[in-house]
Amino acid sequence: MRRILLLAMATGLAACASQPRQNTAPVDTTPLSLIPMPAQLARVPGLFRIDASTKIATAAGDTQAKKVAGQLQGWLRQARGVTLPIVEGKPGSGTIWLHTEASVKGIEAYTLDVDDKGVRIAANDETGLFYGAVTLWQLVTDPAAQNGVPGVHIVDKPRFEWRGLMLDSSRHFQSVSEIEHLLDQMAMHKLNTFHWHLTDDQGWRLQIDKYPNLTEVASCRKPVGPDIALTGGADKPYCGFYTKEEAKQIVAYAAERHITVVPEIEMPGHAQAAVAAYPQFGAGKKHTVSGDWGVNTALFNVDDGTFTFLEDVLDEVMEVFPSTYIHVGGDEAAKDEWEHSPKVQAKMKSLGIDDEEKMQGWFVARIGDYLEQHHRRLIGWDEILDGKVPASATVMSWRGTKGAIKAANAGHDVVMAPSPNLYMDYLQSTLPDEPAGRPIIQSLESVYTFEPVPPGIPADKASHVLGEQLTLFTEYQPNWQRVQHALFPRVAAVAERTWSPIPDWNGFLTRLPAQFSRYRAAGIMPADSAFAVAIDAQAAGSDKATVTLASQTGFGKIRYSTDGTPPTAQSPEYTAPFEVTLPTTVQAITFVNGFGVSGPRASTIDAKSLLRRSSDQLATCNDRLPIRIESPVLVDGVRPVYKVDIMDTCWMWKGVKLDGRYGVAISVNRLPYNYALWKDAANVVSRKAKSRDGEIEIHQDTCDGPKLTTIPLAKAKGGPATIDGILPKREGTHDLCIVITGKPGPATMWAIGDVQLR
Ligand code: ACM
Repeated sequence: MRRILLLAMATGLAACASQPRQNTAPVDTTPLSLIPMPAQLARVPGLFRIDASTKIATAAGDTQAKKVAGQLQGWLRQARGVTLPIVEGKPGSGTIWLHTEASVKGIEAYTLDVDDKGVRIAANDETGLFYGAVTLWQLVTDPAAQNGVPGVHIVDKPRFEWRGLMLDSSRHFQSVSEIEHLLDQMAMHKLNTFHWHLTDDQGWRLQIDKYPNLTEVASCRKPVGPDIALTGGADKPYCGFYTKEEAKQIVAYAAERHITVVPEIEMPGHAQAAVAAYPQFGAGKKHTVSGDWGVNTALFNVDDGTFTFLEDVLDEVMEVFPSTYIHVGGDEAAKDEWEHSPKVQAKMKSLGIDDEEKMQGWFVARIGDYLEQHHRRLIGWDEILDGKVPASATVMSWRGTKGAIKAANAGHDVVMAPSPNLYMDYLQSTLPDEPAGRPIIQSLESVYTFEPVPPGIPADKASHVLGEQLTLFTEYQPNWQRVQHALFPRVAAVAERTWSPIPDWNGFLTRLPAQFSRYRAAGIMPADSAFAVAIDAQAAGSDKATVTLASQTGFGKIRYSTDGTPPTAQSPEYTAPFEVTLPTTVQAITFVNGFGVSGPRASTIDAKSLLRRSSDQLATCNDRLPIRIESPVLVDGVRPVYKVDIMDTCWMWKGVKLDGRYGVAISVNRLPYNYALWKDAANVVSRKAKSRDGEIEIHQDTCDGPKLTTIPLAKAKGGPATIDGILPKREGTHDLCIVITGKPGPATMWAIGDVQLR
């Protein structure tokens, strides 16, 4: 309560809070779990119970309120199992009153009042009423408010107009119903922009009537890695596209929830799928739809016929998507094909353009003009700033924040989507069960604490920042379950940072457990990385170990067990490292108010485990491009994940006591090597191999240090397998450098899983 009162005072609500009607009853002080936290919230006396006699009331003729009443009725039916009647009526006497009222100022703004007599939600339009209804639904679904909705006076509006989420449906495809599920969740977080990445090198996902090959050819690729399990075989293509009717259905579904769908059609790069279908629009050799992640070099050419194609596509895109903004990509267009194309070079000469980056500017400007003629606005990734773009173009800053700073200072509007801060394909934790992804940890806290207006944008330009978005490229999210893991609860963090005027990380954490209950009720599986318990054990003498437990946020109470039973709210609370006798299985859960907020984590600590490290626990030697990659095949019934630097297959195990160690067993697997590294390909490290399959070598202290053992990979017979080697007698503590000889790629690479000393 103290926190909420402080927030109310900080937002200037102290004066407003005195306005609601006199009521001498005490104010309920149980904290409310609203996300995003409203701009102004004051607790007032009163408690309103929603039961079968409650009515949702609107004024006669208030069609906007009636529409929202219908939506609220559905949410309350799901939450409470009662269908409240919608009537024409008045506020008070047991009603939830929704009212369109011009006096409520602000775009998407609303007021919400709850007291003993009922609920009143007012806004100047349907969108504000919708958000007021979402807040009421959150109050109703707050586990702390099960006896009724406590008295509140809320005056609310968002900080930013672009509260977004980008989903890549090209690398991996989601069904219409999965996208609708996501839109439901966006709405309940008050996010309002769904940026839909529909085309890329790995698949074109939108039906375009005039160019049927975009879906007949460009929507399918050879499956790679985990795709093979999805398609049912390496010979079965990975395919998927949305018909125009389906896309329109998604646009309508989003609009019902006050979400605008901004489609993205990539150009001039990330065009490989399109030019595989229509080679005449490509600038280089013939291509097939790519199965490689990274920077593929296929570009559209700059012929007039290609612009006719792109304009035809955009015509159909504009027919499906009524959004003001059309995203045209513009990122990572490697210029090799243009550099080598006599036709492109001739065109540049005729235009007096002397370099390919400026040529991209000309390309994007031409498309921008076309969109302007059709009363739309171009938005693109920050590379569009490399050339001259229309003043109305909006820049999506992804290469950190520098694009945003440059754009805002040049008078362009910007949307913040910086990598790695808001890129959801980065990992959330170092937990051993973290799924595949890119290994710069973007914890919930780092997503939450990212400030959307970067320091380099002066105050008088700050209004150019339209907002920010979660950005999910789906190379490592092959299915809906993994999309959920990457997005939830990070969605809640971005929702709060784009809506609420004042960040409050600790307050957010206290409100998160209630949000987790809402996720569970909606069939969403969030990542519990913020609360999950990491179990670390260090040897302490010959038959003991010291166990340290920690969660990422330190929030709540860690409770643990050592007797093989799952921890409960009554289990011992962890307060300091403790000793166990080997072997012991330690299990741990984080509890908040007696409820578990993390899944249980368990670790069996024995003499063997203390001498074992997974690739996750090892450092990569040079950190060129480490990725956590999942096995394309099941190993012992699971799909293990390997941390491997795809440019240098080399790991370091620091500080190993080698006394008494006589051997090593290493689990290895052969992973697909589907990476387009462009110029970086020249920097992939190759180590001299002695045999066709290569070897694992272990060196002492440094990678150039004495070689302790060589284990031929031929022993793994193609993998996955565990292969072993003998270690010479050594004393003392040393670093071990574990390298795989040869060169990763072109089609596969070896990676190590666990390293077990004997
Ligand atoms: C991007 O990540 N290439 C926008």
